[in-house]
Order: sequence, then structure tokens, then C-alpha cells
Amino acid sequence: MKLMTTYSTQNYPVIVEHHAIDRLAEYTATYQHVFVFVDEHVNTHWSSKIQAMTQQQVTKTFELPAGEQVKTLRYYEQYIEQLLSFQPTRNTCLVAVGGGAVGDFVGFLAATLLRGVDFIQVPTTILAHDSSIGGKVGINATFGKNLIGAFHRPAAVLYDLDFLGSLPASEILSGYGEVYKHALLQGPKSVQTLEASYYDQPSLLKLENIEQHLIDGIQTKLDIVVNDEKERGQRQWLNLGHTFGHAVEYQTKIPHGHAVMIGIVYQMIVANALLDANHPVQHYFNYLKALGYPLEQLQNLTFEPLLKLMQQDKKNNQSGIRMVLLQAVGQPTVETVPVDVLEAAFNTIQTLGKE
Ligand SMILES: NC(=O)c1ccc[n+]([C@@H]2O[C@H](COP(=O)([O-])OP(=O)(O)OC[C@H]3O[C@@H](n4cnc5c(N)ncnc54)[C@H](O)[C@@H]3O)[C@@H](O)[C@H]2O)c1
Repeated sequence: MKLMTTYSTQNYPVIVEHHAIDRLAEYTATYQHVFVFVDEHVNTHWSSKIQAMTQQQVTKTFELPAGEQVKTLRYYEQYIEQLLSFQPTRNTCLVAVGGGAVGDFVGFLAATLLRGVDFIQVPTTILAHDSSIGGKVGINATFGKNLIGAFHRPAAVLYDLDFLGSLPASEILSGYGEVYKHALLQGPKSVQTLEASYYDQPSLLKLENIEQHLIDGIQTKLDIVVNDEKERGQRQWLNLGHTFGHAVEYQTKIPHGHAVMIGIVYQMIVANALLDANHPVQHYFNYLKALGYPLEQLQNLTFEPLLKLMQQDKKNNQSGIRMVLLQAVGQPTVETVPVDVLEAAFNTIQTLGKE
């Protein structure tokens, strides 16, 4: 399946299929240098596939430390200097093979090498159906996540579904949080379809028909980022579940998408209180429980530290906690939420966890 962005210029294809990386040479043929960066775990699980891919027209292949640990200034310096030692021209392409961490890191190398060279995303996690689209790239600072970065569109996204076969259960759950988020932004039919396909953890871990759900999620994200690339308006909707989710992630160290799922339920409680929405919160809570998200973590939390973390979120302004809320499924809005509403919602979600 091939999707295409619809910007006025500089569009890129998103190929979603098994063996998609066999097509890499089609997209790299005209470059003078091609550097491939592979996440360490992906390299271990898929060594022969990676070798077959990098035999053609590749200047050098680098193995990167697995996951989030690579998104630092230290590794940035190390790899950008290594790239420069090849005396590359602007006619260079970097290829990122890995989850969102490798995509963000390599994308940032590409955005800054010689003031910008091309890069191709080869996402290998479910979450990366989200992160590989839209051109946000970057690394972490000691002051927080993703604070050093750029907007830099990829030249292509080759989503090879074979890679999903080696994902551990916790990464499947984490990525599914973002798939579910896209469905909630899309509308009730998308949510019902997802919940019918994946009704408990075993049915989710089989990943049956995941291709269609990923394509739907990618299409939802594409529609939003094409309208608002620099996050001045509707791109903020993609932060659904992230305000509370990031705070929970920071406090408990549970994986990102697990925390986002908890943040999604929290946001429903807030929307019911603030917007008179009518979300069946217990249904969503039970659904998360059936899928095996770590809801017991809620009992280890207290409100004040979470509030402090939410106040630090870089998307906040002075007037309060800005949050994406669903007026109804498929109807996102961004609102300023008073602290008393946030605290009451926290008490409610904790109580749900005790029942
Ligand atoms: N740029 C964006 O728009 C955007 C959006 C959302 C998230 N992100 C970023 O994405 C990152 C999270 O991405 P992620 O969830 O993909 O995590 P990740 O890239 O950290 O990968 C998670 C783990 O899975 C392993 N892994 C990756 N692919 C595998 C495979 N096929 N088989 C087995 N193991 C595999 C990795 O080695 C790592 O240990 C965060 O840094 C986040 O900030 C960026």
C-alpha cells in the first residue's frame, strides 16, 4: 500500500507492506552517499535482512545503541563527526532503521548535516507508524525530552511489516496506545473496529489485520500534519492523552504508550467534568484492563508531583494546563483546565483502579 503526503511541494511516499525495504534501492539510487543506521536490537533480530538491504549502494552501516539512550548530544556529536569524516556532499541520504528513537535521532542528524540532507525512515515498531510521519526530529536534553530538534520531512517512509514479528509484548502495547489514539481522533467507527479486533491481550499480541489499522492511523496523522506542519493548531490534537501520560511516564517509568493510554482515560474524565461530555469512562478503563495495561501503577501516584510535571510541559502557557480533550470521540478540542478539575479527575481515576 502506498500513501502520499499532499503538501504543495516536497511530498513523500509512505509504503506500508511486508518486504518494503527490498525497495530501498529505488529510493536511494541517485545519491552519492547512503548511510544506514540500524537499532541494535533490530540488527540482532534481523541480521540477514539488514545485510541483504545494505549490500546495495550503501556507503556504511552503523549499529546504534537500542532505543531512547541514543537520543543524546553525546551520540549526536559522535555520529555527526563520523559522517563528516566521509566528506559527504548534500547529495547524501541517511536511512533510519528502528523505532521512534532511531527515527528521531537519525532525522536530526539529517536535518543538521551540512544544513540538511535527505533521510528515509524505515520504522520497525508499531509506535513508529506515528513518529516516522510528519517530520518532527530531535534528541533529548538534560532539561527534558525532545527539546533539541527540527522539522525535517523524510524523503520516504518504508514501513516493512516483517519487523513487527520480533516486537516484545510491552512494545506492542506501547505502540497500540498511539493506534488507539488515532482512532479516537478519527471517530466512533474506527474505535469500534479496533476494539472488536483486539478485545484482550492475546488477540492484540497476534496483530491480525494490523496492517489496515496502521494504514488508518497513518492516514489520520497525515491529514493532520499536512494541514498544520508546525503545530500551530490541529497538530496539537496528536497530544491526546500525553499531558497526564507524560507525567505518569516520568513518575512510574512505564513505557510511553502505556502511560498515554492512562492519559487518554484521564482526559475523558476531565472532558466529562469540564465540557459536559458523556464518555463511558468505566468502559475505557475496563478495556485497558483487558489489554493488560499497568493500571495498578495509579495506586503508587500522588497528585502534586504529577501536577508539577504537567505544569512543566513545554506545550503549556501561563494561564493553566492546556490539554487536548475529546468533546466526543472524533471531536478534539484544546482547553485550559483548572487545577481543581485536574485533581478531582485524578481522584476518580485512582478510585476506578481500586474497584
Ligand atoms: N517524531 C515524532 O513525531 C514522534 C512521535 C511519537 C514518539 N516519538 C519518539 O519515539 C520514541 C519512541 O519510539 P518507540 O516506541 O518506537 O521506541 P524505541 O525506538 O525506543 O524502541 C523501543 C525498543 O524496541 C526495540 N525495537 C525496535 N524495533 C524492534 C523490533 N522490530 N523488534 C524487536 N525490538 C525492537 C528497540 O531496540 C528498543 O529497545 C520516543 O523517543 C519518542 O519521543 C517521536
